Amino acid sequence: MKRAGSTNLSHCLRIIIQPVLAVAAVIGFISLAGGAESEAELIASDASLSEVMATIVMPSADVLWTAVAVDVTAAGIVLTAPETEEDWQRIRTSAVNLAAATDKLLNENLPVSNAEPVEPPPGELGPQQITSLRKQKWQEWTAHVYVLHEVAESALKMIDAKDTEGLSEVGGSLDEACESCHLQFWYPEG
Ligand code: HEC
Repeated sequence: MKRAGSTNLSHCLRIIIQPVLAVAAVIGFISLAGGAESEAELIASDASLSEVMATIVMPSADVLWTAVAVDVTAAGIVLTAPETEEDWQRIRTSAVNLAAATDKLLNENLPVSNAEPVEPPPGELGPQQITSLRKQKWQEWTAHVYVLHEVAESALKMIDAKDTEGLSEVGGSLDEACESCHLQFWYPEG
């Protein structure tokens, strides 16, 4: 159940975020919401891949994605941008955490899951299948990780330049970076 829920969450995000970015791009004025959510916590050294995803990768990516806010209200379309150094700093922390998490993903002995084995939902691979696929296609695995790292670095550059439009574009690449790995290593038939 947990795994199925996670898949849905990741798919949902894609469905929600892409149109928001598209609307913002069409309007030609991109902004960032000030309130980045909770910062990713530092993770235990024995954390599994699944935990790294759930506690660092996902929350950090989420901050970068939700940083772009376009609200449609009765008064019209309202765009919000970060106003203070603190707003930018919070978003920056998430980009740094995301880049740092890629180090963990380059450990070929990183256990995929520490949870009790359960039958994966249809279309998803179980931890053992993921482990052997990762071993077999290690080069492809690392290529996905490098792409994620590159995207996190681009996000950092945009944040340091306070380039809101650029950051919004990075949001799209970020989504691709997650999905392309998930499609190969997590739910190839999902
Ligand atoms: C290098 C490959 C790779 C990349 C890149 C990657 N993931 Fe994952 N992710 C996986 C694999 C494999 C699983 C399945 C792990 C498992 O069985 O629990 C997973 C699982 C997850 C989960 C479920 C975690 C849980 O609760 O078990 C979430 C959420 C997630 N990824 C989010 C993301 C996001 C967001 C990104 C991009 C910012 C991303 N992932 C990038 C390989 C990747």
